[in-house]
This record gives sequence, C-alpha cells and structure tokens, in this order.
Amino acid sequence: MPPATGEADLPPDVLEAIEKSRLSERPRSHLIAILQMIQRRYGYLSRERIDAVAQLMQVPTAMVSGVASFYHFFTFIPKGKHQITVCMGTACYVKGGGLVMDRLKELLHVEPGQSSADGLFYLEAARCLGACALAPVIIIDEKVYGNVQPDDVEKILTEYGYAAKSK
Ligand code: FES
Repeated sequence: MPPATGEADLPPDVLEAIEKSRLSERPRSHLIAILQMIQRRYGYLSRERIDAVAQLMQVPTAMVSGVASFYHFFTFIPKGKHQITVCMGTACYVKGGGLVMDRLKELLHVEPGQSSADGLFYLEAARCLGACALAPVIIIDEKVYGNVQPDDVEKILTEYGYAAKSK
C-alpha cells in the first residue's frame, strides 16, 4: 500500500501513536499527546507536520492548528539550540531583570519569543522561576544563573558559543 500523504513528514513512533489513536474510541483525545511527541522531537510544529497529522487523523487542519494554538507550550517556529529564560517576576524586575533582558535583546538582536539568526539561542521571558533569593535570575537550558547583571550577560553567552560579530 502506498504511504498516505504526509507520512514521510512524521517519524515512526508518531505514526504508530496516530494509528493507535485511530483505533481508539476517541481519536481526538490523543491529539495533544501526538503534537507533544512531534514538538519534543523537532522543537516545534511545522505547517507540514500539522497538515500530516490532520490528514492521517482525518480531522480538519484548522482543528489541529486550533488545538496547538490554544496551548502556550506549543510553538510554530524553530527554537534556537539554547533556550534562555529571563525572569521578569517582581523580585527579579526590581533588581534589574529588565536591564538583563535588554542586554540579551541587544546582543542577540531578538525579541522574547524569537531565535537568534544563527539558530544558537531562543529568548523568552517568564514570570517567576522560583529562585527569587537569587534575583535577577536567568536560566539557560537547565542551568540557573543568579544575581545576573547586564555586564555579565555577554560572558555567560560565550559559554554557549556566542561570539560578538563586531567589536
Ligand atoms: S521573581 Fe524571579 S525568580 Fe521569582
């Protein structure tokens, strides 16, 4: 049997999960888990993969897109290799979290929710990272940096391969 259109865009474990969902009583209840599998694997949900899921699950593309848009943990753009989360909660903000964010934006030429052009960094803001005693706080991947000052930012980024383009 020739593969259904869209199968080529999805890995075998996702195809298997879709197949299982189709055999279940409520296939649509598996949709979030299936989208999470795709995002874990590729870091984001591409238009092509959303189309493929819709086609294979035999549901409208708009419905799959609608579910994905509803949950903030899904993203439709590729994220940079290293995820930078800047705390903008009250404790961090009053101690200069906003200035740390400004410095990151300046160095990486991005706004929160964007990846740097070289694909190395993804920048986002958070409300409270649960480490207020260390304010201001940023997290890069799993590593927590406390008492961060704007002047520290460039040095921290170099640990992850950042190189200033022009000095
Ligand atoms: S406000 Fe930043 S860690 Fe709590």
